[in-house]
Amino acid sequence: MHTETHLIVGPGALGRLVALHLAEPVSVVLAGRRPLPARQTLTTPEGERRTHRLDMADVRALPAMAPSFIHLTTKAYASEAAYASLFEQLPATTPLVLWQNGYQVQPELSRRHPGPVLCASTTEGAWVANDGAVVHAGRGMTYIGDLAHRHAELSQRLAGILDRAGLAARAVDDIATRLWHKLVINAVINPLTARFRIRNGQLRDPPFRSMVERLVNEIAPILSAEDIEPPDAGWHALVWRVVEGTAHNRASMLQDVLTGRPLEREAILQPLMVAAVRHGLATPFLAELDRDLARLSPS
Ligand SMILES: NC(=O)c1ccc[n+]([C@@H]2O[C@H](COP(=O)([O-])OP(=O)(O)OC[C@H]3O[C@@H](n4cnc5c(N)ncnc54)[C@H](OP(=O)(O)O)[C@@H]3O)[C@@H](O)[C@H]2O)c1
Repeated sequence: MHTETHLIVGPGALGRLVALHLAEPVSVVLAGRRPLPARQTLTTPEGERRTHRLDMADVRALPAMAPSFIHLTTKAYASEAAYASLFEQLPATTPLVLWQNGYQVQPELSRRHPGPVLCASTTEGAWVANDGAVVHAGRGMTYIGDLAHRHAELSQRLAGILDRAGLAARAVDDIATRLWHKLVINAVINPLTARFRIRNGQLRDPPFRSMVERLVNEIAPILSAEDIEPPDAGWHALVWRVVEGTAHNRASMLQDVLTGRPLEREAILQPLMVAAVRHGLATPFLAELDRDLARLSPS
């Protein structure tokens, strides 16, 4: 008998990956906005298939419950609607865990949510095969922390649960820095690969190589003006290391372009552009890419 329940909201790639792991050490309810089969199959990075029955729920009509954590695993642009329907039904003091990329949902909901808000920055990789199957494409690391430095113990508790569930996790006291570092990687790789429909590794070749350099040169001063600690090896090395390590991958934004889904453009580019305006920094190339992506994203 499990002693605690985790509610996971947003039954896509990441939500199902987290649900199918957490279902071992805790009780899990997976909530979405359309019905999905309770039998869900996870294909591990080693190619093994594991099937579990999950408790599914409609996010607009949740069962009576008092979850220990609510994990929000929607895309950033869907988080507002999901959050609104959740807290019409559940105690507003329930700890909320935000798994989104970018840096838009995190400061906004950390400010608004009355309970503790933890942020997860993960390099796990997953994609949806169909309504009953998710593929764990590559193992990574998940960092957990809160922006206000008030919930170190809760972060450690959650990192311990994720770790026991088979998702390597660690509580950290610099989650904002980690979210910004990931945002920089996403802000360079995602727009360029989506705009030109190329795999990550093609960014190493002309004419894209100089575009990467130009974008990093535009972004680095924004982070410096925001007092975000740069990575030890510098911004250029950070971006090129990820391009190298993911050379065969299609970035998530490119996959969204190819399948006609909305892009996480605002959550990734807007925080940079807003900060640039605040510090009087010009961002012509970022702005150009943002306009291009706005045309590619269905409204
Ligand atoms: N996938 C990864 O490997 C990965 C890795 C690191 C970070 N992330 C980040 O994690 C977040 C989720 O990404 P993802 O790849 O899992 O996206 P995804 O596969 O598109 O999943 C999003 C899920 O949210 C659901 N949803 C949308 N609106 C909802 C609402 N109002 N209430 C409840 N559920 C709702 C969607 O349902 P419908 O099917 O009905 O639209 C979908 O099941 C993103 O911010 C992404 O950047 C993902």
